Amino acid sequence: MSKRRAFWLGAGAMVAAMAVSGAAFAADKKQPKKKDYRAAALEVMKASFQARGQATLDRLNQDEAQAACSRSAAGEPLASDLKKKMEEAQSATVKYPADSKYLGSWKSGERIAQTGRGLQFSDDPSEPAGGNCYACHQLSQQEVAYGTIGPSLYRYGKLRGNSEPMLKYTWAKLWNAQAFNACSDMPRFGHKGILTEEQLKDVMALLFDPESPVNQ
Ligand code: HEC
Repeated sequence: MSKRRAFWLGAGAMVAAMAVSGAAFAADKKQPKKKDYRAAALEVMKASFQARGQATLDRLNQDEAQAACSRSAAGEPLASDLKKKMEEAQSATVKYPADSKYLGSWKSGERIAQTGRGLQFSDDPSEPAGGNCYACHQLSQQEVAYGTIGPSLYRYGKLRGNSEPMLKYTWAKLWNAQAFNACSDMPRFGHKGILTEEQLKDVMALLFDPESPVNQ
């Protein structure tokens, strides 16, 4: 072997050795993998928030469905069989009204739909929470300030009628929106105890009562 060739072989080996030690160096630094970033982010959140009154830190703990939906939003789509299983599990949480009456008063339903207060540290826990429906939905035509994250519910009852299956579907959707859409953005009003059965009946009347401004 010529001296020259030996030199190049030696240099090549050195470069290879440097590459290997570089890799070892990177591995030593324990770069967190994708999964670990999630845990690290939760640590940061837990360290950043303080419990105050009814706003306690257990709100940072995701249930199984929320965790799967966060992974899906981060680019790991839900497998269709898992999505179906999640919806079945959420569906099983729905409690229908004991007296089988679905409709209360649309007037208080309108107030509940307008109210965005509740469950924050500054809210009185003995006061009922609001549904904040207008934040995401159009409902009556009189209210011009509404969000569009959800579909318009204007003329909901007029367009769909108030058959038993339609009442039942809508009740279940309000109780637990994820029963029909595993990763729904809509709050699970009954399941999470945001609205009481009484309040849900009033919101149902807002959607279905022919006298309600929603159906004018
Ligand atoms: C944070 C936003 C948000 C809030 C607040 C919200 N919703 Fe929704 N809602 C949605 C979205 C998004 C959808 C459509 C996607 C889905 O089904 O999850 C939806 C769907 C619905 C549907 C089903 C519509 C259909 O075509 O079958 C009904 C009914 C409904 N919402 C009623 C309400 C009522 C009543 C309230 C208040 C008590 C409310 N929503 C509060 C986001 C919201």
